[in-house]
Amino acid sequence: MNKKMKILTYGCQMNVADSERMAGQLQTIGYDYVDEFDEADLILINTCCVRESAEDRVYGKIGELKHLKRQNPKLIIGITGCMAQKEGEQLIRRAPHVDFVLGTGRTGELIRIVQSLEEVPSHIVDTSDVNGSESFSQYSAFSPAQKVFSEFVPIMYGCNNYCTYCIVPYVRGRERSRLPDDIINEVKEAVKAGVVEVILLGQNVNSYGKDHKLANFAELITEVDKIEGLRRLRFMTSHPKDLSDELIEAIRNGEHICEHIHLPVQYGSDRILKNMNRVYTVDQYRQLVKRIREQIPDVSLTTDLIVGFPGETDRDFNETLDFIREIKFDAAYTFIYSKRSGTPAAKFDNQVDDSIKHERLTRLMDVQNEISLAINEQLSEQVFEVLVEGASKTDPTIFTGRTRTNKLVLFKHDNEQVGDFINVKITQPQTWLLKGERVY
Ligand code: SAH
Ligand code: SF4
Ligand code: F3S
Repeated sequence: MNKKMKILTYGCQMNVADSERMAGQLQTIGYDYVDEFDEADLILINTCCVRESAEDRVYGKIGELKHLKRQNPKLIIGITGCMAQKEGEQLIRRAPHVDFVLGTGRTGELIRIVQSLEEVPSHIVDTSDVNGSESFSQYSAFSPAQKVFSEFVPIMYGCNNYCTYCIVPYVRGRERSRLPDDIINEVKEAVKAGVVEVILLGQNVNSYGKDHKLANFAELITEVDKIEGLRRLRFMTSHPKDLSDELIEAIRNGEHICEHIHLPVQYGSDRILKNMNRVYTVDQYRQLVKRIREQIPDVSLTTDLIVGFPGETDRDFNETLDFIREIKFDAAYTFIYSKRSGTPAAKFDNQVDDSIKHERLTRLMDVQNEISLAINEQLSEQVFEVLVEGASKTDPTIFTGRTRTNKLVLFKHDNEQVGDFINVKITQPQTWLLKGERVY
């Protein structure tokens, strides 16, 4: 009988992609997915540490696993991902029921470690090389996981940007781009296996290929777009500092490249952007958005925003509100600044009061929600091609899907299957989703 694995994933799409690849590896040594923690022989927690709240959640979850280990001493518990890289041995000291901690550059060691723990229980910590290259050969094979219609494909690892608030460069290492041929072959294999949508992933995809110089991102995405059988091509994330005109043109001309750009602005005042080390100004961002909208008129733009960065004044904050009113993003993911030790901003001495941060977050969300709703209301009565994703979480008779512009659409289930393309007329637009009716 096969062994069972349960994998819990926190954090961003990178982690989702890594979890799928680790699962693929574990399948080769006899592990099958299981839903329930208490039926698992191996539990992996793939972690995030981008904000303190993410770490607190992980420590809470690890604590909950203690009784499972007591019930079943043979259970193997492993912690992977960004927080594993950051905390290392500390994790085992705080939670001795954890068997292994594996850093982001060492995932190629996963099989060897699990096999050795199956034979001899012990504690293993390997966070030795944040720039590890094992991941390349390991990740270059497409590993069939649960999802069949859509696949995350990492095209690069790490980040060189060192935004002053952000821990990612420290826990993911320097930028390393995968070879274009490896990416293209992986997408071809995925499409052969039934995938219709591919999402190319990197912390800043615009930097793709700066190391090996075999192709830049615009060239890569144009090549991937030509792969026969692929219906939708997405990518994230783009840093505004280097989104090129060549890429805008590639998106415009690409047949399957979806009209959606996630373009985190982070803030709307030059003073704070400078202190964040984002290396663009508000006006440069504004001009970039103008060029994008001129070339791709029906594009949807989403963003990330941080409130409460050290030194933020009422004036900075009001400039940000004005800026989001001006740009009119389709949606924004809003975060309260979280101090990450080891990053430059953690040492800035003018940290903002918690209550002010919360109050500003609410105001920011209120303004953005109004904008999102107004944009979505304009879509009423329009018909969109929707890629069906599955039943909604709360009601099995309601299915969800996405437009090319990445808007979530809800509709009454008839006979649609996951991965189908259908047409839906929008009848009830809301702030975060569109309700509609299928049209035949
Ligand atoms: N590489 C991507 C995003 C990585 S992290 C990019 O640069 O766009 C995802 C988001 O988390 C960031 O865009 C930022 O808005 C937020 N974030 C990162 N560090 C944070 C911190 N210390 N506190 C609050 N939010 C943070
Ligand atoms: Fe973090 Fe900035 Fe890199 Fe994004 S670009 S991962 S925010 S350092
Ligand atoms: Fe979190 Fe690591 Fe992604 S810190 S946001 S999982 S790169």
